[in-house]
Amino acid sequence: MRVGLLTGGGDVPGLNAAIRAVVKRGEGRHGHSVIGFRNGWRGVVDGDVMPLGRPHIRNMLAVGGTLLGTARYHPHADDGGLDAVLATLEQERIDALICIGGDGTLHAASKVAEAGVRIVAIPKTIDNDVWGTDRSIGFDTAVTIATEAIDRVHTTAESHNRVMIVEVMGRHAGWIAVTAGIAGGAELTLVPEAPFDIDRVERYLKHRHRAHASFSIVVVAEGAVPAEGSSMSYETEVGRFGEIVAGAVGERLKTEIERRTGFDTRVTVLGHVQRGGIPTAADRILGSRFGVAAIDAVTEGRTGVMTALRGEAVELVPLEEVAGRVKHVPDELIRVADSLA
Ligand code: F6P
Repeated sequence: MRVGLLTGGGDVPGLNAAIRAVVKRGEGRHGHSVIGFRNGWRGVVDGDVMPLGRPHIRNMLAVGGTLLGTARYHPHADDGGLDAVLATLEQERIDALICIGGDGTLHAASKVAEAGVRIVAIPKTIDNDVWGTDRSIGFDTAVTIATEAIDRVHTTAESHNRVMIVEVMGRHAGWIAVTAGIAGGAELTLVPEAPFDIDRVERYLKHRHRAHASFSIVVVAEGAVPAEGSSMSYETEVGRFGEIVAGAVGERLKTEIERRTGFDTRVTVLGHVQRGGIPTAADRILGSRFGVAAIDAVTEGRTGVMTALRGEAVELVPLEEVAGRVKHVPDELIRVADSLA
């Protein structure tokens, strides 16, 4: 078989582990040829291909980013985009396509699958908000980085008696904020799933600083918003490409906290640091497992599916169940973060 492979959307550590697994098992065990498309769906539309063999994946397991490159581009949203995808796949004689991506890439994958292409998807996003899987590639590394950052901010917060706001990624879901907040011992964790009450934030900080500490760590997901009708006005700031403006909610919170409490406050915006560098062992393992599951699924003719971690097992879930849905942080996790304030 000739199997196409692409990585789309924001990069994450662990993508190269998945690519490596697809190539090693695809070529070595199944005798397939793996053809890489550069820069996500853009490469399929443009016919930008590269052969993928053993030499390309050598020593890539521990390397962050994606050797295929990536882009935020969705062919179904572009005039003629889908037709161009079909034309390239025919020209390259691609029998099936493996797409590694987050919500946008998977949505595009479901549209291309509807057009008759055999697709197996692999979920990746540091946001961990892809529906249908317990974990997405990249999340573990991002939480590890964010936790280390919170640990580091802790000691300087304590030395200076400051409120430290740590803004982490998470547009629609606060997985990084809640898990790194728990692991790093944040006093307050604000996430998109639970719009925050700024009066409560003020009361809590004043009480804490009066009663037993003179510093606090507030972890905020970039997509967090104040509750409707609350006494703080804020609308999520979005950039030219629909991305949330990094630092916007963190800076706005700083102004509000300082005005209300008088406490010296600083903001650390972790930004793309969370997506860079060496993948953790967990992300290398997850990428490898998903890669093997995806190429096996292709080989067995089980397409229109996404690999998913469910408990201890890797399973296949129908793509149409996944596309367009967001996996939010469960109440229990939010409650744990809240209880440890
Ligand atoms: O989708 C993953 C993500 O890392 C989000 O958490 C973040 O909002 C966004 O990507 C940033 O995207 P970009 O790399 O395009 O700035």
